Amino acid sequence: MREVNRIILIACGTASYAALIGKYAFERLAGIPTEVDVASEFRYRDPIIDSHTLIFVISQSGETADTLAAAREAKRKGAFVRGIVNVVGSTIARETDGGTYIHAGPELAVASTKAYANMVAILLLYALQFGRSRRLSLATGRRLLGALSEIVPKMEKALEQDKKIQKLAEKYQNYKNFLFLGRGINFPVALEGSLKLKEISYIHSEAFPGGEMKHGQIALLSENFPVLAIMTKNQLYEKMRSNIEEVKARKAPVILIATEGDDKAKELAEDIIYVSETMELLEPLVNTIPLQLFAYHMAVLLGRDV
Ligand code: M6R
Repeated sequence: MREVNRIILIACGTASYAALIGKYAFERLAGIPTEVDVASEFRYRDPIIDSHTLIFVISQSGETADTLAAAREAKRKGAFVRGIVNVVGSTIARETDGGTYIHAGPELAVASTKAYANMVAILLLYALQFGRSRRLSLATGRRLLGALSEIVPKMEKALEQDKKIQKLAEKYQNYKNFLFLGRGINFPVALEGSLKLKEISYIHSEAFPGGEMKHGQIALLSENFPVLAIMTKNQLYEKMRSNIEEVKARKAPVILIATEGDDKAKELAEDIIYVSETMELLEPLVNTIPLQLFAYHMAVLLGRDV
């Protein structure tokens, strides 16, 4: 672990969004430069890899062709390749040099949901372990583990908002376009919410980092283009607030994911879903759930076969 000076996380789709969260964790907790590559790009470029590069390939099924090919390419170039895989005995699990099964249980529908959450949790644990072998203090490590062990009731609380989110979907089911916004560790959450909406309800949606929106995307916004934004209480809260104000100036309806007790958030939102507060690095585990439920209810209401 001490020889590693660079990490590359390789995956596709939802697994690549879990990887983006992993990047934040590895850089923040362990101080190791970390990149995320979508597998279909990695395998066709000429990546610079040496024996100090650690590669993680992340896959629910363990059979995704691009991810498998990327793992083979990385091994051919001399990297140590670890798998983070759900399906036991799958090809990626067998071909990697080592790794971790996430044991999320079978994903029966096309949408990867619990696998995503478990990928995020495993990546956090890896980052914590790398951090502790380097610069992370025992106290911070313990704080993170404590927060992680308290995360399940917070996730359950998000799931309990199901009825409220169903009502929200009823209200928004006829809109044709959605924009998802997040910043920092919640940008991958926005990407995941947007992908789920597209994937199961066939509604057009896009996801942007809040600060990037003004560089073009904002031109599309109007009262017919709702924005789902994650504005939980973290270090980028104020930045996100000012992005939402720009959205409101365009008259786009704003649906906010905000932290319980943040009454000021109501001033900005047409609709609001409150989630429990947790450590910033763990926020995706909670904040993704309302977005997944929103995609689910939109799809059911539109008669799609989820
Ligand atoms: O089995 P994998 O995790 O390798 O699959 C990767 C993607 O195809 C997958 O995450 C896809 O984006 C999901 N169906 C999204 O819900």
